[in-house]
Amino acid sequence: MDLHAIHTSGEEEFVSQAATLLAQKITDVIGERGECIIGLSGGSTPKPVYEALGKMPLPWDLVRCFLIDERYVSPTDTDSNQKLIRDALVAHARIREHNLFFPDTSLSIDACVEHYARDLMALFEDHLADIIILGMGNDGHIASLFPPLGEHLMDESRLVVHTQTHQFAVPDRITVTLNPIAAANQVVFLLRGMEKKKVWDEMMLDMEHERRWPAKRILASTKVTVVWG
Ligand code: 6PG
Repeated sequence: MDLHAIHTSGEEEFVSQAATLLAQKITDVIGERGECIIGLSGGSTPKPVYEALGKMPLPWDLVRCFLIDERYVSPTDTDSNQKLIRDALVAHARIREHNLFFPDTSLSIDACVEHYARDLMALFEDHLADIIILGMGNDGHIASLFPPLGEHLMDESRLVVHTQTHQFAVPDRITVTLNPIAAANQVVFLLRGMEKKKVWDEMMLDMEHERRWPAKRILASTKVTVVWG
């Protein structure tokens, strides 16, 4: 396991350390290979981090971003992850429109999944994701992979799937599957609050496998940094 932890205290420190870490990682990747492909999660935790990161003077035209998961709502809906990324990150960072990859939720959900899988296949043609940012729900979900993960979520041939949850206002989700996330060069978890710490510790002690704890596959496969707040 290649796991590093950064401990912060208070929202301000969490946001500035997380944004600085991500800026450094993006800069390093661009220095190594001339561009950076980054996968972004939604949720409340990363929003201020995306805002701070977007204000950093990075060569944003060399960054390509895709969503790890999306809620099946219009891109103008307050629950839309595309809206979150546009408002928090893209409003500040000059990322080119053709370098932004979002599921097209104006399509039927099956077509949306199919088109997004095709877009990601093209994005990953030469290189898989360099960096993926993840959060974790209190049930241990990452992306929109809600445990226990059903058989279709373990199908290695699928890049994107439709999942459903009844925990949140928007039940239908479009999510990248575990394999492409685990195949990223590195993953950064942004975790704030006691509840997340409790869930993470429970996962680390639990003998149950990745269908119960999808983050276990990530920990077993790639380099992981957790920023704790
Ligand atoms: C989403 C996510 C999801 C999120 C966790 C944690 O779009 O909701 O990608 O996996 O990261 O639910 O969310 P919070 O940061 O809001 O706790």
